[in-house]
Amino acid sequence: MDTNAHTSTSSDADAESPARGRRSVLGGAAVLGLGIAAFGTTAHAAGAPSRSRDKAGRFQGKSVLITGGTSGIGRAAAKAFALEGAHVGFCGRRAELGRQVEREIRDAGGEATYIEADIRLEDQVRGFVDRVASRYGGIDVAFNNAGIGGGKLPHEMSVEEWDDVQATNARGVFLAIKYEIPHMLRAQRGVIICTSSSAAEQARPNSAAYTASKRAVQGLVKSAALAYGPKGIRVNALLPGTTDTPFVRPPGIPDADWVKYKQAWGPLNVDGFERMAEAEEIARAALGLASDDFPYMTGASISVDGGSTAGRRMIQPSRT
Ligand SMILES: NC(=O)c1ccc[n+]([C@@H]2O[C@H](COP(=O)([O-])OP(=O)(O)OC[C@H]3O[C@@H](n4cnc5c(N)ncnc54)[C@H](OP(=O)(O)O)[C@@H]3O)[C@@H](O)[C@H]2O)c1
Repeated sequence: MDTNAHTSTSSDADAESPARGRRSVLGGAAVLGLGIAAFGTTAHAAGAPSRSRDKAGRFQGKSVLITGGTSGIGRAAAKAFALEGAHVGFCGRRAELGRQVEREIRDAGGEATYIEADIRLEDQVRGFVDRVASRYGGIDVAFNNAGIGGGKLPHEMSVEEWDDVQATNARGVFLAIKYEIPHMLRAQRGVIICTSSSAAEQARPNSAAYTASKRAVQGLVKSAALAYGPKGIRVNALLPGTTDTPFVRPPGIPDADWVKYKQAWGPLNVDGFERMAEAEEIARAALGLASDDFPYMTGASISVDGGSTAGRRMIQPSRT
């Protein structure tokens, strides 16, 4: 389990927070393990993570750029792409974590470079993209994944908080695309995957800023897919459901309590697989979309959410 330090504010995580899931009955106390036993535990055969198929070499020698590779889904994707032969350039603001991920990939025999960059800042995004392209000979795949939460009711959210969510999640993806595309146009090919969220499809009362930002990502993706499809560039959006990363895991919670919490949370919040995703499962979806297996797919929003947006469980009132 990923135990990286959680640097988001508590409100950052709220928009995806399990504690605020649409059917969650667990409050903050439950996060700390109180009252969890009442829900028992559930075995989840369906959808349980399985060992990855042997696909070494799918990205052999390809240049892969990832935003937000210091943690969670981006970190898992950086490792997975490198394991399949890619040369991975990734960014994030936390240099120590970035260097650690880079070291882990190299120690495992892969090739990766961490570049410190803040996705909100145009100069840093341009510098990051250009450095990855010049180091690895262009950009074959871009996974625009960096993002933050922002769970507050609109009237309780400051303009600065709203702007920060949009600057990171929406403008950050725009900036990345803006500077990735010229490299792909030169090569007349490329694949871009942008991390949206199931929250783009399924809002919550406190998800206005986050949902708006992730809907913006879908809009950007559709437009870019039309603009660059004729040039051989595919652009798709990935919509993960709630995923076990520092984005949703409260900082400092002991592993055992978190496991119990997840076991109680899943059946209440995810129709279908009844559990949250592991970062590696979302990363594998990103690799699939980036691979040559989907040459005719562009402008699409792909849900990878265990079924959570497929339906809505009908809970019948008791007949007393
Ligand atoms: N976990 C979920 O339940 C879930 C569900 C649906 C969608 N998502 C989306 O999935 C993506 C990855 O989230 P995660 O779950 O992996 O969360 P995470 O573990 O918190 O990772 C977020 C990543 O984004 C980076 N990032 C954030 N702000 C940045 C900035 N201004 N500049 C550069 N990098 C920045 C972080 O790096 P630094 O902090 O080092 O900058 C980190 O590497 C996000 O877009 C999120 O919205 C997550």
